[in-house]
Amino acid sequence: MAERNLILAFESSCDETSVAVIENGSKILANIVATQINSHKRFGGVVPEVASRHHIEAITLCVADALEQAQVSYEDLDAVAVTYGPGLVGALLVGVAAAKAVAFAHNLPLIPVNHMAGHIYAARFVSPLKFPALALLVSGGHTELVYLAGPTDFKIIGETRDDAAGEAYDKVGRVLGLSYPSGKEIDELAHQGHDSFHFPRAMENEDNFDFSFSGLKSAFINTVHHADQVGESLDKADLAASFQASAVDVLAHKTVKALRKFDVKQLILAGGVAANKGLRARLDQELTAFPEVELIKAPLKLCGDNAAMIGAAGYEAYQAGIRADLDLNAEPSLEFEWLD
Ligand code: KG4
Ligand code: ZN
Repeated sequence: MAERNLILAFESSCDETSVAVIENGSKILANIVATQINSHKRFGGVVPEVASRHHIEAITLCVADALEQAQVSYEDLDAVAVTYGPGLVGALLVGVAAAKAVAFAHNLPLIPVNHMAGHIYAARFVSPLKFPALALLVSGGHTELVYLAGPTDFKIIGETRDDAAGEAYDKVGRVLGLSYPSGKEIDELAHQGHDSFHFPRAMENEDNFDFSFSGLKSAFINTVHHADQVGESLDKADLAASFQASAVDVLAHKTVKALRKFDVKQLILAGGVAANKGLRARLDQELTAFPEVELIKAPLKLCGDNAAMIGAAGYEAYQAGIRADLDLNAEPSLEFEWLD
């Protein structure tokens, strides 16, 4: 039988405690995700201290579940991969400590994984990545265009100057009275309405690959508040459709601009907001102008935070010889470097 590589992967950067077992970097044997969303909903956002406590309660159970579901034991493992940043420091530390404990106790190599590289590698479960590639990474904390020269070589070419796309979705959702996180619900509402408000499209004509969502968010909030003051009621579906039309336009515009400049084999769409139906459809449409570029969209189930993607990214790092010592620390502000 061919040798199989098994990686136990940990993800705890925000409000999902997740442990996965990944075979050869591309097959999910287990991907346990314990979400804390219900605990954070009442606060309208993630409370870091609450997140850390939940991670501590859940992590050992997730490890046991993952090993059982994958039908493997510690002796079968080849390495342990863990998200060490970016994210909430107290949350990250729980995954890092757990991964170190397993690596130390079972004498396994420890592979440090950047959470954003993990999001990119969610696409690996659809198709092998080919380089050079470009990734549009859209999550609750980040919105960036990343150039991938090789499997572990990530360089930022553009990013948001203010809010992340998911953050903007969640903030306007709050104004609409939706519960946190509201991206998915706004996406669904958007499909029942029309872009009747024509909110601004920021930075479209600037000569860079950066984004901005705070102007859109403010325009949205001002429109809703003004209507409240004059006692007018606005159509929620039209508001959602108008917000989404602007957000998707801005994301698609800069992505296409990057595809014109960089000769790449693939475009990868990943991160929590990559689940957005409007964005997925728009990129399908835009890519018809680039027949030589393969569009890989992260599977819907793996767009949000999960350890399977960390295992896939960890496998590439493992192959590249990347290892961490047992003094690995959480790096809450970890970032890819910029392309020179
Ligand atoms: O990547 P992720 O799970 O967590 C971070 O690392 O930030 O992203 C979560 C974000 C939230 O802001 C959520 O509202 C957004 O992804 N989101 C969506 C959709 N599904 C989740 N945004 C727009 N449309 C969606 N369908
Ligand atoms: Zn994430």
